[in-house]
Amino acid sequence: MPTILVTGALGQIGAELVPALRARHGADNVIATDLKVLPPGGAAAAAPYGHLDCTEPHQLHEAVRRYDVGTIYHLAALLSASAEAAPQLAWSVNMSGLYNVLEVARGYGCQVFFPSSIGAFGPTTPRDATPQVTVQRPTTIYGVTKVAGELLCDYYAHRFGIDTRGLRLPGLISYVAAPGGGTTDYAVEMFYHAVRYGRYTCFLSAETRLDMMYMPDAIGAMMDLMAADSGSLRYRNAYNVTAMSVTPAEIAAAIARQVPGFAVDYEVDPVRQAIADSWPRSLDDSAAHADWGFAPRYDLEAMTTDMLARLRSKLAAARSR
Ligand SMILES: NC(=O)c1ccc[n+]([C@@H]2O[C@H](COP(=O)([O-])OP(=O)(O)OC[C@H]3O[C@@H](n4cnc5c(N)ncnc54)[C@H](O)[C@@H]3O)[C@@H](O)[C@H]2O)c1
Repeated sequence: MPTILVTGALGQIGAELVPALRARHGADNVIATDLKVLPPGGAAAAAPYGHLDCTEPHQLHEAVRRYDVGTIYHLAALLSASAEAAPQLAWSVNMSGLYNVLEVARGYGCQVFFPSSIGAFGPTTPRDATPQVTVQRPTTIYGVTKVAGELLCDYYAHRFGIDTRGLRLPGLISYVAAPGGGTTDYAVEMFYHAVRYGRYTCFLSAETRLDMMYMPDAIGAMMDLMAADSGSLRYRNAYNVTAMSVTPAEIAAAIARQVPGFAVDYEVDPVRQAIADSWPRSLDDSAAHADWGFAPRYDLEAMTTDMLARLRSKLAAARSR
C-alpha cells in the first residue's frame, strides 16, 4: 500500500489526524513530518517522523521518493491571526508550501488533501447559508492564500489530472493539541479555562456567530473525502463543511449547564474581531452531504459533554504526574 505523508503534523489537526490514519492504514504507512522538532514522548506523532520544511521543494521530493508516498495530507500553514501578524511569511509558507506539494504530486502521481477554511470568504460573501460556489474576496492574507490555494488545486486537477481534494474547514474544537493562532481559538480556550478556573475572558464579542466543528468530525470528514469515489466529486478546490453555527455566548451557556458558575467576560481584540466579522455566520454544506456523504456526529451539546469529560481526565492525569 502506498505511504501517506502528513506535513505540519505536529499542529492541532495533525495531532489527531496522524493517529487516526495510523489506526486505519497501519503505523508504518503514515509518515508524520513538521518544521518543529518532535517533542520527547510525543506519542501522537511518534515514529515514523521526519523533519520537513514544505517551503523546501527538495525536502518534499526526497520524502516522497524515499517513502514511496501515494497520498499527501498538506496541513502545514500559518493560521489566520498568525498570518496577519506575519503576512510575508504566511504567503511563503501557505503558497510556496502548497505549490511545492502539488508539483511533487505531479511528479509522483500523489493524491493531495488541502485544508481550506471559512477564511476563504470575505465581507462581500453572503454571510448566512454561504453557498458552495459564491463570491470569494477575503480581506486577510490567510484568506488570500486559501482562495489562491483552492484555485491552484483546481488547476492541478484539471490541467494535470492530479487527484486534489479539499475542505473549507470551520473553527475546530479539540482537547489533544493547542490551536495554532486562529480566530476561533477562543472556543478551545473557553473549555480549558472553564475546567481550570471557572471563568474566561473572550477576545471576540459575545454575539460573533461562526461555524465550528468538533475535531473527531473533522478528522472523519478528511478521511471520508479522501476515500470517496473520485467520480462523485464535483469540486476539486474545497467543499464547505460545518457542524454548528455558534456564538461565544452560546458556547459559554452550553458549558455553564455542565460547569455551574462558569463566567465569561469580553475584551474584544480588534484584529481578530475584524477577521471574524469578515467571515460567514453559517455555511451551506449540502454539496458535501450529497457528493461524499458528509455527516457530522457532534452538535454543541454532544461536543460540550465530550470535551469537558476528556479535558477533566487529561488535566487530572497531568496533575498526577
Ligand atoms: N484548526 C483550525 O481550526 C483550522 C480551520 C480551518 C483550516 N485549517 C487549516 O488546517 C491546516 C492545519 O491547521 P492546524 O490547526 O493543525 O494548524 P497548526 O498551526 O496547529 O499546525 C500547523 C503546523 O504546521 C507547521 N509548519 C509551519 N510552517 C511549516 C513549514 N514551512 N513546513 C512544515 N511545517 C510547517 C507548524 O510547525 C505546525 O505544527 C492549516 O492549513 C489550516 O489553515 C485549520
